[in-house]
Amino acid sequence: MTTSDIKIAPSILAADFANFGAEIEAVEAQGADWIHVDVMDGHFVPNITFGPETCKAIRPHIKTVMDVHLMISPVDAYIEAFADAGADVITAHVEAGPHIHRTLQAIRGAGAKAGLALNPGTDLDSVDYLLDMVDLVCIMTVNPGFGGQKFIHSQVEKVRKLRAMIGDRPIHIEIDGGVTPETAPLVVEAGADVLVAGSAVFKGGSVGNPAPYGDNIRAIRQAADLR
Ligand code: DX5
Ligand code: ZN
Repeated sequence: MTTSDIKIAPSILAADFANFGAEIEAVEAQGADWIHVDVMDGHFVPNITFGPETCKAIRPHIKTVMDVHLMISPVDAYIEAFADAGADVITAHVEAGPHIHRTLQAIRGAGAKAGLALNPGTDLDSVDYLLDMVDLVCIMTVNPGFGGQKFIHSQVEKVRKLRAMIGDRPIHIEIDGGVTPETAPLVVEAGADVLVAGSAVFKGGSVGNPAPYGDNIRAIRQAADLR
């Protein structure tokens, strides 16, 4: 994989919640490849963020890719609403219900790219029969629910095994949680190509002072390139 294939996807979970539009425009101007949008329901994960109406409101501010990570259960009843809100990628958790196969069908049926997320404790066996229906697999490198947690190193080996399972299928491997210039090279070397980063991108900057966003994105990208 060449350098230019690595996508950096800042998570707006670490942005100013009162200023999403301007934060997204600032971080895209500073080099973000995708915008990662964390939807939490206070049930599947112990935190609540926002829903499809907020996604619809921020969509006009996103010029790149709107990457919606659903940490909600149940999922299926809400897929249409997130697709209508303009999500390019909709990722659901394999742990979110008994019918992930149906959920992935529904995501593609709604016209979005389908993503499948795995919690750190979930085995790769669960994706075996789903690989032909996904565009992205998200390996959680923290337990989902909060930004700013510590990267779980056992997941690097999972990424390596997943890359081998995927073979030559056109499927992204996304890493979510604890991505920094220190951890990015480990997962890229193992086969990941989309790096979500919240705190490591937004730290030190603001809409009024966006240059640190660019410095932070470049630091992650350069570290990944030196793997
Ligand atoms: C965690 C979210 C992540 C989170 C990552 O549940 O899915 O996207 O924003 O935050 P950092 O990069 O701070 O670990
Ligand atoms: Zn996420």
